[in-house]
Amino acid sequence: MISKIKKQIVFSGIQPSGNLHLGNYLGAIKQWIDMQQNYSCIFCIVDYHAITIHQDPKELKRRILEIAKIYLASGIDPKKSIIFQQSDIKEHTELAWILNCTARVADLDKMTQFKDKSGKNKESVSVGLYDYPVLMAADILIYGAQIIPVGEDQLQHVELARTIAKRFNSQFGNIFRIPEAQLQKQGARIMGLDDPIKKMSKSAVNTNNYIALNEKPEIARNKIMRAVTDSGGEIKYNSQSKPAISNLLTIYSLITNISIKELEKQYAGRGYGDFKRELAQVVETFLIGFQAKYNKISDKEVFDILKAGATKLEPIAQKIITNVKKNIGLS
Ligand code: AMP
Ligand code: TRP
Repeated sequence: MISKIKKQIVFSGIQPSGNLHLGNYLGAIKQWIDMQQNYSCIFCIVDYHAITIHQDPKELKRRILEIAKIYLASGIDPKKSIIFQQSDIKEHTELAWILNCTARVADLDKMTQFKDKSGKNKESVSVGLYDYPVLMAADILIYGAQIIPVGEDQLQHVELARTIAKRFNSQFGNIFRIPEAQLQKQGARIMGLDDPIKKMSKSAVNTNNYIALNEKPEIARNKIMRAVTDSGGEIKYNSQSKPAISNLLTIYSLITNISIKELEKQYAGRGYGDFKRELAQVVETFLIGFQAKYNKISDKEVFDILKAGATKLEPIAQKIITNVKKNIGLS
């Protein structure tokens, strides 16, 4: 008899706070697509995380829909995976409060993303921005998620979720599963096209830094043609000595699924001009296909999928909260 093995739970999320770009797709969403075969996946639109920085209300509403459509157009299949909006399940914030009482100021003071995002304005940024890693821990722990696929910049936050879970378990009994981050090796960090030392970012001042997923394909083509290159004309991967061409090779490889070794062979003896022209074509073709899928998805379809997701998750979240409250003596 074939025994039915329970699939492990995967959880990840993206904030509806800006234009998603190729780095978000290749570094995060793309690795989720294949995971749907072997895991029970939950993909969240983390709107409560987004409001840690001021958002225009109309714009936020639009972006929530946009992220859901990006998930769907990328190949997240609502028949296999759950897609939902964080604020639809109030237990995330309820658990976050409880975990606030387990997390320590010393834990949060270590978070490099907070240091980067708050910069010189430490006194005037929101308390939410400081506390956001605890909400992220709640997102993960509330569903007993085991595997957390994220980009490199989120590793420290997943580590914090582990610390909080272990500390809580040792104080109040074994409630939480200890999650693990999963980093995609190649492409975990897609770098800026204008500066391959810094990661591709939606907040970059120079719009040539990134290619948005809703970029006009011909503009994306120009951005690739204009991307900075390294000295020496050889198409060879070396992230230390040739960061620019290594980044372009990574993008090429991840979109086409052709290995970097294979690409190096293909372009041996050929120059940057040829390589960039062909990569520009690859990116353009990818965006045309992606956007065609995106434009077919209606708002109504998205609302229905998000509501169905929340309906499936609510009982799981409620059950954990009930147990947590019991164990800490609240009920
Ligand atoms: P953010 O856009 O910062 O909210 O990030 C959303 C997801 O995309 C996270 O899992 C990030 O780690 C990932 N991500 C953001 N920027 C990049 C990048 N340049 N390269 C790879 N992954 C990224
Ligand atoms: N903080 C993550 C980011 O900015 C998004 C996020 C929120 C997340 N909750 C999560 C990612 C839980 C993984 C698991 O990218």
